[in-house]
Amino acid sequence: MNYIAQTQSDFENLSQAAVNNPDAFWSRYAEENFNWHKKWSTVSNCDLTQGKISWFEGAQLNITENCLDRHAANQPNKTALIWEPNESKEPAIEYSYQELLDQVSKTANMLKEMGVQKGDRICMYLPMVPELAFSVLACARIGAIHSVVFAGFSAQSLADRINDASCKWVITADGGFRGNKITPLKKIADEALAQCDCVEKVLVVQRTQSDIEWNASRDIWWHDQFEKQTTDCPAEIMDAEDKLFILYTSGSTGKPKGMVHSSAGYMVYTTYSFLNVFQCRRDDVYWCTADIGWITGHSYILYGPLSAGATTLMFEGTPSYPDMGKFWEIVEKHKVNIFYTAPTAIRSLATCDLALVNQYDLSSLRVLGTVGEPINEEAWRWYDEHIGKGNCPIVDTWWQTETGGIMISNLAGVTPAIPTMATLPLPGVQLALMDTHNTEINEMEAEGALCIKAAWPGMARTIYGNHQRFVETYYSTYPGYYFTGDGARRDAQGNYRITGRMDDVVIVSGHNLGTAEIEDCIDELPQVIEAAVVGYPHAIKGNAICAYLCAEDLTEKEVKQFVSDRLGPISKPEQVVFVTALPKTRSGKIMRRILRKIAAGETDALGDISTLLNPDCVKDIIQIMA
Ligand code: WT7
Repeated sequence: MNYIAQTQSDFENLSQAAVNNPDAFWSRYAEENFNWHKKWSTVSNCDLTQGKISWFEGAQLNITENCLDRHAANQPNKTALIWEPNESKEPAIEYSYQELLDQVSKTANMLKEMGVQKGDRICMYLPMVPELAFSVLACARIGAIHSVVFAGFSAQSLADRINDASCKWVITADGGFRGNKITPLKKIADEALAQCDCVEKVLVVQRTQSDIEWNASRDIWWHDQFEKQTTDCPAEIMDAEDKLFILYTSGSTGKPKGMVHSSAGYMVYTTYSFLNVFQCRRDDVYWCTADIGWITGHSYILYGPLSAGATTLMFEGTPSYPDMGKFWEIVEKHKVNIFYTAPTAIRSLATCDLALVNQYDLSSLRVLGTVGEPINEEAWRWYDEHIGKGNCPIVDTWWQTETGGIMISNLAGVTPAIPTMATLPLPGVQLALMDTHNTEINEMEAEGALCIKAAWPGMARTIYGNHQRFVETYYSTYPGYYFTGDGARRDAQGNYRITGRMDDVVIVSGHNLGTAEIEDCIDELPQVIEAAVVGYPHAIKGNAICAYLCAEDLTEKEVKQFVSDRLGPISKPEQVVFVTALPKTRSGKIMRRILRKIAAGETDALGDISTLLNPDCVKDIIQIMA
């Protein structure tokens, strides 16, 4: 059986085979498509009621041998990675599979020389430079656990993440180019490290030539150590369930969750989903515009495409510099065949002059994708008509940091796309919708809480250092099921539309933000008596943040600046509203549901507010915002 569906009937056969015997399905796919040092003794050993997940127990492998060595052996000159810089006058760099293997091996040897060992945690706080890709893969090669922190995060967020995983090493850069700005990464890292006793060494990539402070007993230049390394670095042999990486995602309490992914299952699932969803062909150039600081970059810039032997492009800059035609310039320049981006980018590009699109030759494009949030019909139509020229299937891919890879999507050109719907689960993914009594809904046409009822190899294994929170967050609401936190609607044919988060997570421009974390941050301002943070619909960003504050002697600007400094600019509220009181239940719980409706302008749909402790304040808030 070919595990990559090429026709609708392949898709149906695969889906059926995976239901009939999931272990046989995954076992045969894993066996036929990867290199193993040792085969598994047990395919899956999972108990969802306990959040206990284990795949391919007994197997040994190294994911980088699958991403690099095997392709370097079979097709050494094939381009593995294309790096496109922020400034188009700087040349792009192409690494063949052999060259990428060499760079990764040198990086791995450099880390070993610094004392890094299997199981150690290393934090990367880097711009989208090739060294980020090398570092991630180098960790995987020697069995160190990488924890990439998005370079837009603040010093405090970085420090929290470094400390949570007790990272001994940090890799950063003097600065990062983003459009016409330079992010002072080393400076931010220095500030963070003042709070991190666990860190021993900081490896610094020179990128912007910025003036930086230097701590000679701690800081090491990448280029001083890198060149002298050899390209010979045998891969560490890892057990299937050894931790591969930690990646933080926002939760509904203030503290971010360090999601842990393991080696074998993640490799199998990212490769499988990459090939099925994008239908990548041998000579394709594939470009995912995400940052490697997010799961999309981990799974679909690096691990999935590389394991599949594809050519993957990474871009240092932003969609708006030097102008809003940048993405299309890159598509033309590198003859990109598969293009994967976020609805928020599509919406903002769609507001621009079409001449910015039409001046470029986009005829290389064959497949388009979106990820990160629901895509509205208007944006979908624009993407289809003006970028795909009506010729490219659009895959709307639903998944999460926790799922490791794409769970619901049409398969490009194989199963039908339906605007605004992620459509059907991938073969091997068993979904369920739950009603308000926490029982599974059997009717096909239904709306409810989206759950997954069978384990799959790519699922997160735990929250780093807090398995109990893992079980509580994902496996307690609906015992025996993984709860996604999203709501969804299912049509009569079984297609899914994601309706949005059911918890206190808001997706702003595709970034997952926890409102509790922003509330905690605002509460630190001494002038603040009480704060409530909610999301509301925003035309470009999908959602935006509105902060309601009871406070004295504080301006909107001060609040925005404070949040931006503490958590990073992406968490900055769009609106700050000063109120005299927040609506509360009789038990004192802030009614965020009402505040959400007010922020969304739905003031005539507030429902019964008479049961509130202080119903009068609602009228006041509406007036303040009018
Ligand atoms: C949340 C996960 C998965 C990589 C990027 C985000 C939302 C994601 C879609 C989609 C509707 C989507 C969900 C999900 N989401 N993709 N195609 N349609 N909603 O990863 O930061 O872990 O966020 O993003 O609400 O739960 P993440």
